[in-house]
Amino acid sequence: EKNGYPHFMLKEIYEQPKAVCDTTTIHVDKDGMVCFDNLNWTKADLENIDNILITACGTAYHAGLVAKHYIERFVKIPVEVDIASEYRYRQPLTSERTLCIVVSQSGETLDTLEALKEAKRLGARSIAVTNSIGSSIAREADYTIYTLAGPEIAVASTKAYTTQLVALLLLSLYMGQIKGTIRPELIKDITSALLTLPDKITEVLKEKDHMEKLADSLKDAKDIFYLGRSIDYAIAMEGALKLKEISYIHAEAYAAGELKHGTLALITKETPVIAVATQSHVASKMYSNIQEVRARGAEVIGIGYDDDPELEKYATDTVRIPRVDEFIAPILSVIPMQLLAYFTGIKRENDVDKPRNLAKSVTVE
Ligand code: F6R
Repeated sequence: EKNGYPHFMLKEIYEQPKAVCDTTTIHVDKDGMVCFDNLNWTKADLENIDNILITACGTAYHAGLVAKHYIERFVKIPVEVDIASEYRYRQPLTSERTLCIVVSQSGETLDTLEALKEAKRLGARSIAVTNSIGSSIAREADYTIYTLAGPEIAVASTKAYTTQLVALLLLSLYMGQIKGTIRPELIKDITSALLTLPDKITEVLKEKDHMEKLADSLKDAKDIFYLGRSIDYAIAMEGALKLKEISYIHAEAYAAGELKHGTLALITKETPVIAVATQSHVASKMYSNIQEVRARGAEVIGIGYDDDPELEKYATDTVRIPRVDEFIAPILSVIPMQLLAYFTGIKRENDVDKPRNLAKSVTVE
């Protein structure tokens, strides 16, 4: 059932072109516009939403952090993203003018389910993004969007995460389409880019041997820092989580602009840094941050576009992704980080499919 792959995690990383293709094609019509069966929202429905709450746990929460950028840009409604176990125990300002979006691969995570129930109790409308048909969360939400990732067996989420990003991007385009806050041409540009994304993922997967080699430089580290700005910060958080759970190495993601507010004190030649630089409006800032950590002796693996001549001037090693729309870049830039976590775990002889102390579906608090 591993289809010739040594582990489910690697198999699932390699299933991403198909998972992304399937999740895109069911929601894009022949004109390149976005459709969700039976959602039938009107402009008035969206004008009745003042704020959007995204709540989830772990990797799904990280997908929510990316979606905040999507929704605020395309739908012009403020978004807060909260960890489900935090949301359910605070006194949130959720109301009937809130749209609550929950994200859960399994659809059974207890904290996420309870957060959804709490948001509904306070009057919110709700949408679930899940990979599991008929799951508790799918049944509880007013509307469910399915990611078509297929079964994810490895504890570490890979293809579920990338398909969550696709589903959330499509949802934000759909809302912007109805509300009239995004030009139809831009919707078509992004959906057509999503339709060609599977081939680009296949390109990035060719970095496998490179990632296996780079894992040698990480496997004996005690601490590893992941840096990014804007959407790349959210991706850095996902990269760090993946490394922690599979390699058992302490990793921390930092908004690169925060470095000098404390973390820079921890950077030495013993702390490898992974820097993601795909967002042009903050690219020059990222390059300065890379120089700052290099100046403290850190080796830097830079992840950026294959046509970016700048990154290799500053990073010790660079990992290239094909040039894509900057909103789509996270779906590509996370893949080298998944591979890096996988190979670092393998080199440390960990059980990468079943990391210690973790369960695939967390149905207890
Ligand atoms: C990390 C991972 C977890 C899950 C989290 C939520 O790789 O898999 O962080 O993302 O437990 O699970 P779901 O999405 O099933 O609610």
